Amino acid sequence: KKDQIILGIETSCDETAAAVIKNGTEILSNVVASQIESHKRFGGVVPEIASRHHVEQITIVLEEALLQAGVTYEDLDAIAVTEGPGLVGALLIGVNAAKAVAFAHGIPIVGTHHIAGHIYANRLIQEIEYPALSLVVSGGHTELVLLEEPGSFKVIGETRDDAAGEAYDKVARTLGLPYPGGPHIDRLAQEGSPTLKLPRAWLDGSYDFSFSGLKSAVINTLHNAEQRGEKIEPKDLAASFQASVIEVLVMKAVKAAKEYNVKQVLLAGGVAANKGLREALTEAFKDLPMDISIPPLYLCTDNAAMIGAAGSVMFEKGKRSGLDLNGNPGLDI
Ligand code: KG4
Ligand code: ZN
Repeated sequence: KKDQIILGIETSCDETAAAVIKNGTEILSNVVASQIESHKRFGGVVPEIASRHHVEQITIVLEEALLQAGVTYEDLDAIAVTEGPGLVGALLIGVNAAKAVAFAHGIPIVGTHHIAGHIYANRLIQEIEYPALSLVVSGGHTELVLLEEPGSFKVIGETRDDAAGEAYDKVARTLGLPYPGGPHIDRLAQEGSPTLKLPRAWLDGSYDFSFSGLKSAVINTLHNAEQRGEKIEPKDLAASFQASVIEVLVMKAVKAAKEYNVKQVLLAGGVAANKGLREALTEAFKDLPMDISIPPLYLCTDNAAMIGAAGSVMFEKGKRSGLDLNGNPGLDI
């Protein structure tokens, strides 16, 4: 049987990325041009700047991905591109690049959901066994997704306000740490102790999440201490915040994994890079029958290899997008 070669393209936020994936599981190339340095001084992603960088980078990144993989456009079975969710101006660059190349070379396009990409990053490290449960924790999303079969996604719980990554970034900002703050909080948390009392949003046993109350509690704790002239160690605050986030994420993932009797639990999204979360999840599932899959760090944050992996699943299911494919910032999974 001929190998299936898919080009993945990702431009939903602040990374311009392209990758070539063989048979949905093997990375032939994985190129990421990060814009973090350009957004840092603004303390977050500036959409207009992101779009402009994508325009500058997309052709270079595409050519580099093909070159490193040793393939040409003629070798491609399909192009998988992130169609949403994300920043509309950013998405449009990837979508239009995909359409231009697809039209010029007669290649099918598979519009791919960004979160499906994060989830299927796990397919690049091991075979997925269904039913599987994914704990998705990124800068824009926090949800528990049930996969009953390949390419089927059922959201069983999601955040009612901030995403986990967003809470990390906001708390980091309060502590005067640079963007993106997640990795800095993670590092500080390893050095500190979770000595401060912070809330956990259990939401009456639902699988939903809420992090805005926790974020406010962190800010209030800092301000109150300041007013009393007391000093709070940033590392202890980071450790306390991280403990609260992780406890809720892990407990809900365990409960859902048991209830839906899944074979695998797939960690996904940028916050999956969090050292504390990776350890806590591994520990929590140690004595449970389901497998836990945790992608390596370079597959946790935004990349196109994951889009190629998810696109491959959707391609096998028969999904094809037309040349009328559009960027959809609010796309449902
Ligand atoms: O998935 P991602 O790359 O982009 C979105 O699709 O949103 O996630 C980015 C988020 C940012 O909020 C960043 O602070 C967070 O992932 N993040 C982390 C860590 N590394 C990245 N959060 C906590 N600990 C980390 N080590
Ligand atoms: Zn992402």
